Amino acid sequence: MDDPSLPTDLNDIAPWIERSLARGASDPRSAFHWLTLTSVDGTGRPQARTVVLREFCSSTNELVIFTDRRSTKVADVEREPRTGLHVYDARKRVQLRLEGSSQLETCGERWERAWARAKQGTLLDYGREPGPGTPIDTPTSGEMATIDSVDTFTVLIFTLQKADYLHLGREQHRRAQVNFTLEGSSATWLVP
Ligand SMILES: Cc1cc2nc3c(=O)[nH]c(=O)nc-3n(C[C@H](O)[C@H](O)[C@H](O)COP(=O)(O)O)c2cc1C
Repeated sequence: MDDPSLPTDLNDIAPWIERSLARGASDPRSAFHWLTLTSVDGTGRPQARTVVLREFCSSTNELVIFTDRRSTKVADVEREPRTGLHVYDARKRVQLRLEGSSQLETCGERWERAWARAKQGTLLDYGREPGPGTPIDTPTSGEMATIDSVDTFTVLIFTLQKADYLHLGREQHRRAQVNFTLEGSSATWLVP
């Protein structure tokens, strides 16, 4: 039987996506905690990597991700803010493909809040030396970051504009496209 918590009414899809992202931000057991962020590099090649969803704000449609200023994805986003996020929840048999625009913050109120959280934990990953992607002779995580990693800690804000929801149900498949704006959302069914 299909998961009864999944939406069957078109109007319930946007709220379901919002609830799933909110839960993903706070619960590492949720599939929505681990997202694949896609970008395009300087040669036009698509790039994808796993990132952790740290926060979701349903009033602004913003997803918050922590990263390192020196990483390739930051250069990608600076060049081309149009980015994507992907997640597949195998238990629920739901795929979400999100389209949006990313911006980077290295100061300001939201950055301060994120940094206060990051420096408490293992998240100091974002300031190790040398920086991510540097070629090395032997495998190492690099030198543990210090408080100075404040210089490299970066908050990536992804503003959600469009979601493609696909549920490969046992009884029925359902696919919908949802557009998100500050005024609200609108949805339409699509052929899966
Ligand atoms: C489970 C998991 C979670 C990760 N979370 C993050 C993250 O939240 N932020 C981040 O910058 N990189 C994260 N990474 C590392 C990225 O996937 C990637 O390897 C790294 O950021 C370099 O990517 P880039 O060269 O495309 O910028 C994570 C990797 C894994 C396997």
